[in-house]
Amino acid sequence: MQGKGVLNNRISEYVFTQLATIGIPTHFVRSLSMREQLVRAVEIIPVEVVIRNIAAGSICKRLGLEEGTPLPRAIVEYYYKDDALGDPMVGEEHITAFGWAQDFEMDEIIHMALRINDFLSGLFTGIGIKLVDFKLEFGRFYTEEHVQIILADEISPDGCRLWDMKTNEKLDKDRFRRDLGGEIEAYQEVARRMGVLPSADIRDIAEGENRKKRKG
Ligand code: TMP
Repeated sequence: MQGKGVLNNRISEYVFTQLATIGIPTHFVRSLSMREQLVRAVEIIPVEVVIRNIAAGSICKRLGLEEGTPLPRAIVEYYYKDDALGDPMVGEEHITAFGWAQDFEMDEIIHMALRINDFLSGLFTGIGIKLVDFKLEFGRFYTEEHVQIILADEISPDGCRLWDMKTNEKLDKDRFRRDLGGEIEAYQEVARRMGVLPSADIRDIAEGENRKKRKG
């Protein structure tokens, strides 16, 4: 998809910077270019943390829920990061028993995940978007004195479900997953509402680079 990396870089930079303002420790240091970020190196915890506010996607299939049903409260789920196994859903018991993370690390992760959800739900509400669900990844950041759990990876429409508040139009990767078309326009709309839409010039440069890459 032309220009998706540029859009995701901008969106993720914006979200991580906003999260830092409420004291969430993250790996983000700064953007280096249109598609590159300088981040702190972490030892990634091999667990995808999914937070859900409204039923959509796999929870609908698993529990027979109708898409769009508000959940009684935010639900946190875990998936073991293993492509060969198809990232199976796991419980906290598996995570701690197999040593992927320790109990106290899970306490921190859950606490951070719920704070991030509260903050981002408000942030997206402010720009007319429902934060349906999203995925987070955490890692251990080692300094000479201590080890800290920090937020890693990215937060972009690739790993979130974002629905327009009024129309429920999907502004996320489901446009691609469900063959709806208009992916780039949807990602651009999210960036535009955040006030971080790259200028036409930057998008032109990114598209030119994409064309070169495809040819070469
Ligand atoms: P799901 O409904 O398919 O389980 O997805 C829940 C949320 O997590 C959705 O916003 C997409 C995101 N997600 C990822 O970012 N990567 C993944 O590998 C999976 C399975 C989900």
